Amino acid sequence: MSYTYDEKYKFTETWFDPMIPNWISLFDTLKKNGSTFNNVLEIGCFEGRATVFTCDNILDSGSKYTIVDTFGGSLKEAEEMLLKTFKETS
Ligand SMILES: C[S@@+](CC[C@H](N)C(=O)[O-])C[C@H]1O[C@@H](n2cnc3c(N)ncnc32)[C@H](O)[C@@H]1O
Repeated sequence: MSYTYDEKYKFTETWFDPMIPNWISLFDTLKKNGSTFNNVLEIGCFEGRATVFTCDNILDSGSKYTIVDTFGGSLKEAEEMLLKTFKETS
């Protein structure tokens, strides 16, 4: 089970790729069991690698797809960076 991205897309990270076989298996099972995907929220899209995959493989035709990202990492990451800076400067 694999998925190939169209060359028109340019990404700097491939964090999502190890998840692809599991996502294909999971969503195939959910669809076979009658689940529909016509109103989906993705939190943390970054460059959209999972977003493109989701559009091509998961969403129903005409779906509403909302994607959000702080583009600043998580609160936990911000706290860790602050703590690191504090340790380095004190
Ligand atoms: C590992 S990256 C996501 C990778 C992306 N889904 C992909 O397919 O490449 C995690 C993203 O989640 C975002 N993020 C973290 N906490 C968030 C929050 N509370 N709300 C929105 N976005 C968040 C970060 O800014 C980061 O871009």
